Amino acid sequence: MWNYGRGYQDDDIRAAFEVSLESGVTFIDTAEAYGRGRSERILGSLLPTAKAPVVVATKFMPLPWRWSKKSLISALRHSLERLKITSVDLYQIHWPWPPVPVETWADALADAVEQGLVKAVGVSNYDEAQMRRAYATLAKRGIPLASNQMEYHLLNRKWELNGLLQACQELSITFIAYSPLAQGALTGKYTPDKPMPGIRGRRYSRSFLEKTQPLIRQMREIGREHDGKSPSQVALNWCIGKGTVPIPGAKNVRQAQENAGALGWQLTETEAAALDELSAALVDTSARIVGD
Ligand SMILES: NC(=O)c1ccc[n+]([C@@H]2O[C@H](COP(=O)([O-])OP(=O)(O)OC[C@H]3O[C@@H](n4cnc5c(N)ncnc54)[C@H](OP(=O)(O)O)[C@@H]3O)[C@@H](O)[C@H]2O)c1
Repeated sequence: MWNYGRGYQDDDIRAAFEVSLESGVTFIDTAEAYGRGRSERILGSLLPTAKAPVVVATKFMPLPWRWSKKSLISALRHSLERLKITSVDLYQIHWPWPPVPVETWADALADAVEQGLVKAVGVSNYDEAQMRRAYATLAKRGIPLASNQMEYHLLNRKWELNGLLQACQELSITFIAYSPLAQGALTGKYTPDKPMPGIRGRRYSRSFLEKTQPLIRQMREIGREHDGKSPSQVALNWCIGKGTVPIPGAKNVRQAQENAGALGWQLTETEAAALDELSAALVDTSARIVGD
């Protein structure tokens, strides 16, 4: 999907990692599922070279043959081996997939904390009811649910509109916004004449990109008012303004540097409202959650 090994290589990743840390971006999110362990291995090779403390987040994938709490601890130990660390800062359940109930995995997360293998625990792709159940199970063990990682950006505001974001704020759960650049659709570099490559082009088709152009134009205009910020930087700053922590993917130094430039300034209320209005016509309210 991302053209790893062809469009960009390990050297590009190393350089992006280094410049991110230099720019103060020290939270790195990965998962055992990414490249079937490859992403964790790459991060594990980079961590010893880090010039600043890195906050590492990874994820457990509840695959159909994983039934018991023990399978989470075993998967976690494999993640730690690949990352070459003894405990992970944030361990997340990647998806609330059936048939194992939310409570079983939440209990397993609590076991991992008690065994000193993880410092904080989170979930991902959990709707409000699933998140509240995980929160309650952890609370019985005296452990906070630190985060819920969801797709969120100017083209998908379902979680803002259906109350999940507010529930996170109510329960002091950090809302981590994944794909905050809409997989590149909000960077402004993809247009109906230069469509998104590969599988991404199916979700963000030429005709959809056509519809996003007024929003992109407004993002450029707003960026100009802030010392020439790019659409990507405006898109990320908008996420931050909504109280979320966006985690953009970067394939090289230039992207990592640009994304770090989303920090240290703020859209005005009027600008954010203008973006809200333009995005309202485009937002994807169809994002599905797999029930448990
Ligand atoms: N929990 C989950 O289920 C889940 C699911 C998906 C992602 N995530 C997490 O979220 C992270 C980010 O999501 P994502 O990678 O899907 O989407 P994203 O951050 O919205 O988009 C990243 C892509 O946009 C392009 N890009 C990034 N910065 C750019 C810039 N400054 N200028 C121009 N192009 C730029 C790059 O691709 P091109 O250059 O090829 O366009 C890059 O790979 C992932 O790394 C992962 O940690 C989690």
